[in-house]
Amino acid sequence: MKRAVKAIYPGSFDPITNGHIYIAERAASIFDEVRVSVLVNSQKRSTFSVDERCSMAREALSYLPNVTVGHFQGLLVDYLRCEESRVIIRGLRAMSDFEYEFQMALMNRQLAPEIETFFIVTDPQYSYISSSVIRDIFQFGGSVHDVVPPGVFRRLRERFPPQTPQTPQRNPAGEQRKTEGGAP
Ligand code: COA
Repeated sequence: MKRAVKAIYPGSFDPITNGHIYIAERAASIFDEVRVSVLVNSQKRSTFSVDERCSMAREALSYLPNVTVGHFQGLLVDYLRCEESRVIIRGLRAMSDFEYEFQMALMNRQLAPEIETFFIVTDPQYSYISSSVIRDIFQFGGSVHDVVPPGVFRRLRERFPPQTPQTPQRNPAGEQRKTEGGAP
């Protein structure tokens, strides 16, 4: 009997974005099971707790029956072995991702030769987004509707309640120069 192939899609997911969902969806159309695995990283300060990140991911991916969500700490390859998986999924947004991903894939192969990394290219509309970019844009009042699922948008609003819109700061030096010249 053919064994089901389980793939692990690891990342920080702080929070999950439509770019991540796109990768998970494509992986789910190829592999029997995809486990989106949230990294518990004590060295990286995250905006959302592991539980929050998992629950946002779970909610956003609930429409994909063969996708599950979990979390892990320690070495990724050890986690894969525990999960009895030999497949790592990583998304590629731009050439700039490649060098880092290539190094990580080689390192993981060195640690665990039986494990293979598969890269999935993102949709161009998500090639410029990342979780921190989304958090920044949201905090300064920019629109992120198109790039995060509704549940994430709700959590962002709870975490960063809307503030009174502020007039962008003017450059005082520029202001002075204008007055000196007498121009309106
Ligand atoms: N769409 C949108 N954003 C994406 C994306 C996509 N398709 N793919 C990546 N990103 C963004 C993420 O949002 C994140 O943005 P941020 O830095 O603004 O938060 C950034 O790219 C980094 O992606 P992420 O997937 O979170 O990678 P990472 O480098 O933080 O973690 C792990 C990668 C979890 C695979 C790696 O750290 C790991 O394996 N850790 C365990 C320890 C280990 O085994 N180390 C040895 C590995 S060689």
